[in-house]
Amino acid sequence: MNEDGNLSDRKVALVSGASRGIGAAIIQALAPDYFVIGTATSQAGAAAIGDTLADNGEGAVLRVDDDASVEMLFKSLKDQDRMPSVLINNAGITSDNLLLRMKPEEWQSVINTNLTGLYRVVKPVLRGMMKARWGRIINVSSVVARMGNPGQSNYVASKSGIEGFTRSLAQEVGSRGITVNAVAPGFIDTDMTAQLDDAQVELMSSRIPLGTLGRVEDVAAAVLFLASDAAGYITGETLNVNGGLYMG
Ligand SMILES: NC(=O)c1ccc[n+]([C@@H]2O[C@H](COP(=O)([O-])OP(=O)(O)OC[C@H]3O[C@@H](n4cnc5c(N)ncnc54)[C@H](OP(=O)(O)O)[C@@H]3O)[C@@H](O)[C@H]2O)c1
Repeated sequence: MNEDGNLSDRKVALVSGASRGIGAAIIQALAPDYFVIGTATSQAGAAAIGDTLADNGEGAVLRVDDDASVEMLFKSLKDQDRMPSVLINNAGITSDNLLLRMKPEEWQSVINTNLTGLYRVVKPVLRGMMKARWGRIINVSSVVARMGNPGQSNYVASKSGIEGFTRSLAQEVGSRGITVNAVAPGFIDTDMTAQLDDAQVELMSSRIPLGTLGRVEDVAAAVLFLASDAAGYITGETLNVNGGLYMG
């Protein structure tokens, strides 16, 4: 943070899906150094984020699967002169099924939220970052992007797409001082993994060289690093935070 703690001197960081899980840990990690805008899909969720962040930021409503919602948020940020120079695309959903049984809406909802949502949110921030000749875009992928996972062809396709998007955009905007990276969490203790029963958690942990599920703070620390000046020469990279579950 700047020495006098002046909010207007802080970089603005936008974190999608900040109401719980990994996103909630990311806003906590960023909060002392950035003015953080954390998003939720509901007004109540946005208000709770605003309460948590207090002077360090605010909550906002965003549905990344909805053009109008994305447009409304960026119009409001532009009007307040709060366009982000650090963008963390963390919002994501699963809708698991074996492909043979997968309904069109299960496929579409995951691709539309996780992958097309990235397109929707990144596009409006690019021009400002290019003008400033500085920016950080960090996309939350998953270990399964490279491992594959039965029952998650929609989710895995979206996350592999995110990693390819990351490498391509990194090449497009590198000359403007903007880095674009991904963080690929392994199995992290959140609502998303709470559906697993004890036997599944035990089986999963036995496959992880570090022996346990990860913590949301482990992922947030990687994001904080990639947002920092210390990571200024890293771009197009996917940083694994998976306890060694997959090393490829
Ligand atoms: N947990 C893991 O083990 C794990 C592993 C690898 C990768 N990841 C990835 O990490 C990210 C966060 O996962 P998590 O486990 O923290 O998830 P989570 O606990 O299920 O939280 C999901 C977050 O995304 C928001 N969200 C859901 N649908 C949205 C939409 N259409 N538009 C905008 N925001 C939306 C939710 O907001 P509301 O609260 O308002 O619904 C919530 O803040 C995801 O991209 C996930 O794929 C997680």
